[in-house]
Amino acid sequence: MSVVENALQEHVRSRAGFVTQAASHLMEAGGKRFRPLLVLLAAETGDRADSDEVVTAACVVELTHLASLYHDDVMDEAELRRGAVSANARWDNLVAILTGDFLFSKSSELTAELGADAVRIQARTFTRLVEGQILETVKPGPDEDPLAHYLEVVAGKTGSLIATSARYGARFGGASREVEEALASYGEVVGCAFQLSDDILDIASESGESGKTPGTDLREGVPTLPVLMARASTDPEDARLLELLESDLTNDGLHAETLDLLRKHPAMDEARAYVVARAQEAKALLSVLPAGPVRGALEAFADIVAIRST
Ligand code: FPP
Ligand code: MG
Ligand code: MG
Repeated sequence: MSVVENALQEHVRSRAGFVTQAASHLMEAGGKRFRPLLVLLAAETGDRADSDEVVTAACVVELTHLASLYHDDVMDEAELRRGAVSANARWDNLVAILTGDFLFSKSSELTAELGADAVRIQARTFTRLVEGQILETVKPGPDEDPLAHYLEVVAGKTGSLIATSARYGARFGGASREVEEALASYGEVVGCAFQLSDDILDIASESGESGKTPGTDLREGVPTLPVLMARASTDPEDARLLELLESDLTNDGLHAETLDLLRKHPAMDEARAYVVARAQEAKALLSVLPAGPVRGALEAFADIVAIRST
């Protein structure tokens, strides 16, 4: 991971000093490096885990993720990210969007070093990321199940890149095609679980912990798992919450009351149980691997997603 970290610092550099400053802003602010860590772990399933291509692939997925955060904070009008002021708040939307584009371009340049198949996989991942993100802004149709719509959004905007992280790790680490496919499926499910827990944390955690402003999804009108589960309630005690969920949550008072009621609602634990079940499902996909430390680490990785607090 320290080799990846040093390489990332080089990749965000530009000939233009200001571009370097804007592009390194969020990377220096922090981040879990969840995706590159998965690339390195998945590479351990093969016989070339320490190849240069694995490091390059780890940088590709982190740069792609980083780029999407610059764009995401514009769309979500978010002011805080990784405990730092977001790029759109520090500069403006134009700088944030173009810095995101710069990072996407950097990640694409790097993908080309991995060959045509890697470019194809990366391009498909971009497509799914953007589809997921756009779908989030479109309400489910009258005949569409809101939970199914939400899960489709989550799979696109987050499952896709985490699946690619696991696939790249297996592929460039020298694993068999069978293992690569199994790990890509595992990554997809872990990625969805990761986004579901992110959405739970959006409600449950304080900004000091998450480095983000709590309740951003509510304010932006993005329904997430706990909200969808609470909405299904027929308990008369939930009447106020259900009314609030239909109200204008850009209003600070209504927003605070909604967040408070949701945090105490049983839907939070119901949503957490759902994430635990997804993590179990991900672990079951690892049955192609022999028992041992690598499989154990990938199992632990799925468990951490379900219980994480940042
Ligand atoms: C975070 O969701 C957002 C994503 C994981 C994906 C965002 C994708 C895009 C902006 C499209 C990318 C564009 C190209 C060109 C590939 P969130 O807002 O729920 O998470 P947060 O709590 O971290 O803000
Ligand atoms: Mg966001
Ligand atoms: Mg978003």
